[in-house]
Amino acid sequence: MKKIEIISATPELLKSPFSGSIMKRAVDKKIVQINFHDLKNYSLSKKKQIDDYQFGGGSGMVLMIEPMFNCINFLKKQDKYSEVIYMTPDAPILNQKMSNKLSISGNLIIICGHYKGIDQRIRDNFVTMEISIGDYVLSGGELPAAVLCDSIVRLIPGVLNDETSALTDSFQDNILAPPVYTRPSSFNELDVPDVLLSGDLKKIENWREKKSFEKTKKIRPDLLNK
Ligand code: ADE
Repeated sequence: MKKIEIISATPELLKSPFSGSIMKRAVDKKIVQINFHDLKNYSLSKKKQIDDYQFGGGSGMVLMIEPMFNCINFLKKQDKYSEVIYMTPDAPILNQKMSNKLSISGNLIIICGHYKGIDQRIRDNFVTMEISIGDYVLSGGELPAAVLCDSIVRLIPGVLNDETSALTDSFQDNILAPPVYTRPSSFNELDVPDVLLSGDLKKIENWREKKSFEKTKKIRPDLLNK
């Protein structure tokens, strides 16, 4: 079973994304184990201090090296980890290829930053991979960690009921997914394209490919050059 350990200064922010839908199903099926670690529990100071002002001056607090080191060390004593990932906006942006790779890797440690981030010495010496979820800044790495986990967990074999459904997701072949429809076939004169009701599987496949291509060309032409 794959283990994902998430280290956070505010682990309560992590709860809800993991408590329903696919991620909960994967945990319930014992395909993946996801543990949250409260950084405060790894501070040796009386006041459970985990952050401090940055050297050299400047606004914003920085997560300290010691509690983070203690937590990573504690985890590494119990198990082996393929990657120690730090969620941060100043990093390569997550894509489907990275999620595919991480879904078949071993156990993972994911570090959530907060405030100004974490002490650089953690990044230089313990982090093996840094990931951003996009060119915008969030208040912490918890939502990005949940995004990363969701994108990974749904790809682990046995998690999705219909194994082929992840393969037809947008981005899986650098192409966006085609439009989908469900019943009723006509609603207030808004009709589902005839081809989807035709029962001709070859024709439907061709139509989906064409729609995918048109959509990608229109809204994400950069994907077609990859
Ligand atoms: N922490 C804050 N903003 C982030 C982002 N865009 N991606 C990953 N981690 C973050």
